[in-house]
Amino acid sequence: MRAVDIICRKRDGNELTADEIEFFIRGYTDGSIPDYQAAAWMMAIYFQGMTDAEATALTLAMAASGQQLDPHKDLPAGTLVVDKHSTGGVGDKTSLVLTPLIASLGLPVGKLSGRGLGFSGGTIDKLECISGFSVDVSTEQFVRQLREIGLVLGGQTADLAPADGKLYALRDVTATVPSRPLIASSIMSKKLATGADGIVLDVKVGRGAFMGTLDEAQQLARLMVEIGKGAGRGMAAVLSDMNQPLGRAVGNALELKEAIATLRGHGPADFTQLVVVLAAEMLRLGGVVDETSDPFSMIMWQLESGDAWLKFRQFIQAQGGDLRLIDNPDNLPAASLVSPLDAGQSGWLAELHADTIGAAAVVLGGGRQKKDDTIDPAVGIVLAAKVGDQVEAGQPLCWIHANDEDRLAEATAMVRDAIRISAEPVDAPPLILDIVH
Ligand code: URA
Repeated sequence: MRAVDIICRKRDGNELTADEIEFFIRGYTDGSIPDYQAAAWMMAIYFQGMTDAEATALTLAMAASGQQLDPHKDLPAGTLVVDKHSTGGVGDKTSLVLTPLIASLGLPVGKLSGRGLGFSGGTIDKLECISGFSVDVSTEQFVRQLREIGLVLGGQTADLAPADGKLYALRDVTATVPSRPLIASSIMSKKLATGADGIVLDVKVGRGAFMGTLDEAQQLARLMVEIGKGAGRGMAAVLSDMNQPLGRAVGNALELKEAIATLRGHGPADFTQLVVVLAAEMLRLGGVVDETSDPFSMIMWQLESGDAWLKFRQFIQAQGGDLRLIDNPDNLPAASLVSPLDAGQSGWLAELHADTIGAAAVVLGGGRQKKDDTIDPAVGIVLAAKVGDQVEAGQPLCWIHANDEDRLAEATAMVRDAIRISAEPVDAPPLILDIVH
């Protein structure tokens, strides 16, 4: 077999065999196939697409390109492990609440998370606001912590789906990121390699997301669900709105505080709703509830009783975090400047552009433009109103938390541009747009 023939067959619109795809991925991972051939292949896939069978073969080959975890190793026989993944959005602190919530119901969650890039935040950056907390988790600790407390969260390692690490970097600089089979195989290869039995995907839709329209998001979700099922995993994808930020807080420590409030039973309604819907899907995949039972009261009880919160504390302690910071979130990093942005007119909040709000948080120093940028955990934006809310002229629409006057001025101008107030009543948009099984 030769790489050039595989490139040629894809360029001409043929369906590749699993053997051809495996050959290419193996060769690219071990360096025998160079970047320029892989780039040509990515571009051929970008234009010609892939059948579901090809996308599945690509995903499996990428998942098999490195270490594959077995989270069941030390668990009682028959225990199911579940995982979740978000395609990334603004104000998305869902994992911080969802994972301890699920673990507090006895369903083990072992998760590898990423850092934020661009306007979308990362779970690890939020957790690292807690001094001492470490995501540097060895395979032994991963398995042990999963057995002992049912919850572990590590940083993505280079050993996991290394073919994806190389290919993603290549796609980034060859304009081949926005390809459905390439995105689906990239996300799913990492998920499959972590070995969970059930995977719930949170696919964001809208101006603050990878997928701008519901139709695009549904196609991506269906493909990822099919790939996962083809690999023998239980799958669900929840499609949720990302035209406005999720919840009220955007920025690392601010989001962590909001997550803590939610874990203690008083989070914002939209964020709590998303957590509950995702949790219900995870519990179903984990066999904790079946199609006929109603998991919602069980989930709300975990939040209101404090059980999910206690699991979160246990998890933070197990990974070295200083509990004093989460027990009293006022001790988390805080910005020196907190400035309101007032409504210029009365009416109804009609637009609150998630992408611009996320970009303003990056300007404040809360996100990265490049992978190795350092971030300021304290800064961000706290929304005082959401789309559909009635507002009065002069009322604060949000609070901007900054540590630098110039950045504050720039971010304030951006946030002002992200907001539109209508003189006519506006309905609050639905958060949950679809669920794909
Ligand atoms: N996230 C990933 O992990 N890969 C992609 O290709 C896109 C988003």
